[in-house]
Amino acid sequence: MIGALLLVTALMTTAWGARLAAAEPGAGEEAGEQAAGQPRRQGLYPALQRPPGDPELIARGQGIYGINCRACHGVDLRGGDLGGPNLLRSQLVLRDLQGELMGPVIQNGSTSPDGSGMPAQPLSDEDVRAVAEYIHDVLSTATRQGGPPEGDAVELDILVGDPAAGQAYFAAQCASCHSPAGDLRGIASRIAEPKELQNTWVRGGARGGTRPPVDVTVTTTSGDRVEGRLERLDDFVVVLTTTDGRHRSFSRRGGGARIELADPLARHRELLSMYSDADIHNVTAYLVTLK
Ligand code: HEC
Ligand code: HEC
Repeated sequence: MIGALLLVTALMTTAWGARLAAAEPGAGEEAGEQAAGQPRRQGLYPALQRPPGDPELIARGQGIYGINCRACHGVDLRGGDLGGPNLLRSQLVLRDLQGELMGPVIQNGSTSPDGSGMPAQPLSDEDVRAVAEYIHDVLSTATRQGGPPEGDAVELDILVGDPAAGQAYFAAQCASCHSPAGDLRGIASRIAEPKELQNTWVRGGARGGTRPPVDVTVTTTSGDRVEGRLERLDDFVVVLTTTDGRHRSFSRRGGGARIELADPLARHRELLSMYSDADIHNVTAYLVTLK
């Protein structure tokens, strides 16, 4: 693995969620843009406008979806036995960023003209946020069939890049961690569908593939340093598993423990805000040559 090269250490001063949100154009700038009534950036598959969400939040949302929504909207969000519509094609869902549009439907319910409808679901704001995050995560990787309407421009766009420019971009921005002859060898055979390949490299991993673990170092107020694999991090507590398999948790109240994270995918999140449309197209055009 490419482990040692990848240590990017971030000093945590705010909550994990807030930090991620700050790093996400989809959650911050775009929300502002939307509010100002401007259209979203055109020409990209919608998934690309959304960096990967907080895995913990998504997992929680998935649980909530299974209990409260699945019977009507289906295991795969494409509609279920009890008559809920396909959420992957819902304009409301596509326009939603963080549950601000879905929330009212979920919490107040909705009646359709034919008299059927959706009963109000008694979810807290936090649970709405989690389930929305889960729905967006599925949406961001949905494939063609029954997936979001993509529009012709996107279909045509996907392989219009310049492979040579993509190769140069790769050499500058990606080669410190990846190699076309090494870990990415044959990636275009492994992921034959260009759009999925593009989603994979942009987000830094295959859907369903496990996210590489995040290492954390906690320095307690008394100066002890404890290292391990991050299990949970919120405003109040950090939980980790040490190499000998023990779970340890530390309070974060009152400025308590100092926390340093080494998230191997941190660079992928940073890069998200740097790509131009052309960069994305070029890199994809280059990667599809790695058969
Ligand atoms: C009892 C069945 C049922 C349950 C449970 C249910 N829904 Fe619905 N949902 C519907 C129906 C039916 C509609 C369409 C209502 C309408 O046309 O006004 C709908 C509409 C929606 C819409 C709006 C879609 C659009 O394009 O307007 C969203 C978003 C949604 N549901 C999300 C959820 C979520 C998230 C949950 C779980 C927290 C959930 N629903 C639980 C039946 C259900
Ligand atoms: C600082 C290191 C770093 C940089 C720079 C970086 N990546 Fe990654 N990338 C990763 C890590 C870590 C993963 C997760 C894969 C893993 O667990 O092995 C990943 C995953 C991927 C994957 C999925 C690999 C697979 O086998 O499914 C692709 C494709 C990818 N990156 C492409 C790129 C491209 C293209 C760039 C440049 C625009 C880039 N990466 C820049 C660290 C990096």
